[in-house]
Amino acid sequence: MEIIVADNAASLAYAAARRVGSLLESELASVEAGGRISLGLAGGSTPRATYERLREIDLPWTRIHAWLGDERWVPHDHPDNNGRMARDTLANHVPLRLHPVPYTPNAAPGEAARAYAVTLSEIIAHDEGRLRPEVVMLGVGTDGHTASLFPETRALAETVRPFVANPVEAVEGWRLTATLPLLHAARHLLFLASGAGKADAVRRVIEDPDREDLPARRAMQGNASVTWFLDRESASMLEEPPARG
Ligand code: 6PG
Repeated sequence: MEIIVADNAASLAYAAARRVGSLLESELASVEAGGRISLGLAGGSTPRATYERLREIDLPWTRIHAWLGDERWVPHDHPDNNGRMARDTLANHVPLRLHPVPYTPNAAPGEAARAYAVTLSEIIAHDEGRLRPEVVMLGVGTDGHTASLFPETRALAETVRPFVANPVEAVEGWRLTATLPLLHAARHLLFLASGAGKADAVRRVIEDPDREDLPARRAMQGNASVTWFLDRESASMLEEPPARG
């Protein structure tokens, strides 16, 4: 696992965007000429600045399929919708193909999750019969959740499906989320965490030996290369101050 500590949120965004750009370039170089790859996008607010830096990078964007690591069960134009955030900060600025999580009023979130799992199987590379996402970006909550894998929620128990609906008491509603099997199959996981408010969660997820249960810790336990992008504030409670980014 690599931990990069930037001076502040702005330099974190710049460092993370550069790394995502170079990982995308190397993944594109490893597929057949003109072939496409996938990019899993984190939701929430932290990634906004990274997506705004990422869109400045000159990449063959038409060869990149972007998908959402999780989504709130709200309409696509709702201010809390992660797909809307990704459109506003990235997909409206570069010609990558963003695949939003479906939302239909009065429909069951499980149906939308099943439909999205079909989309993921169409846009993410397969390896030995399972999805192998190339690059996946994630955030972390103060409770150690990642994507919408919140502590003690049923989606954590999923062992087969890549994307499910998850009833989350902590947000008093439904979320749709990538599952541990999908995250464990990724080639590269990049976690973004900024600000003093995340310092304790970052410490618990990265260093606390007694917290194997935290979803963000469990997400790291696959075969992916894992990189954390922190700033001085979110890294401030780590015992082992890592190399500076
Ligand atoms: C979401 C997420 C979630 C997010 C963390 C951190 O839909 O909210 O994907 O996992 O990454 O909650 O959110 P912030 O970046 O807003 O702190």
